[in-house]
Amino acid sequence: MSDSHPQTNASMSEPETSKLYDLWAKFYDHTFGALVHKRQHRALKQLRHQPGDRVLDLGVGTGMTLGHYPRDMQVVGMDLSPGMLAKAQQKVDEQGLDHVQLLLGNALETPFADHSFDHVVISHTISVVSEPNKLLHEAKRLVKPDGRIIVLNHFRSYKPVVSWFERITNPIFVKIGWRSDLRLEECLEGVGLRVLYHFKMSTVDFWQIVVLTPRMRSLSPAA
Ligand SMILES: C[S@@+](CC[C@H](N)C(=O)[O-])C[C@H]1O[C@@H](n2cnc3c(N)ncnc32)[C@H](O)[C@@H]1O
Repeated sequence: MSDSHPQTNASMSEPETSKLYDLWAKFYDHTFGALVHKRQHRALKQLRHQPGDRVLDLGVGTGMTLGHYPRDMQVVGMDLSPGMLAKAQQKVDEQGLDHVQLLLGNALETPFADHSFDHVVISHTISVVSEPNKLLHEAKRLVKPDGRIIVLNHFRSYKPVVSWFERITNPIFVKIGWRSDLRLEECLEGVGLRVLYHFKMSTVDFWQIVVLTPRMRSLSPAA
């Protein structure tokens, strides 16, 4: 496999995304956020952290995940949209989340040193960035060699009819802020990450939780 970034989605672009999510910020928590809240909780249970661990939440949005992180972790949340980040900051202030730091920036080009986090979380962001594959390259660079990358997202189905539907509706979804045609394999191509496990919360579920690591060994999901 090549180590380049072969996949670029021309349909999404960071400047447009930033503006779009500034609009989303006003009603995100009561719409999409409310729909995925339980999944975020379940996804973060896959962290298996140690006290003092550092976690980076890429595309932290309005901070719907922030309340789920154990307080003995150091959490850094990064997002491209000032509007989304302002909502996250509100939660940090209101809930006294002193273990959380928020940062405005592009998750595809972060300012952090190699291996500076024990865990990276990517919740509903991989299908929003312009280069999903590059996002995983960056996550791999940032996470420690025995760390975990938790991805929560919708990925395109292997059922032909569903897959077809997800492809033809993709232009509509792109207009409202994310891709519906992204395959997990496209994201992983050439990155050198291992899928430890992945699961859905129910048999009929649009979203899945995928646990990745640079290290080569298998584990089972936390309850
Ligand atoms: C669907 S929201 C998900 C928010 C949050 N992670 C959640 O699960 O509720 C996608 C978020 O990714 C952010 N985003 C998109 N592209 C980004 C990039 N290149 N760098 C940082 N954040 C980005 C958007 O601004 C938006 O807040």
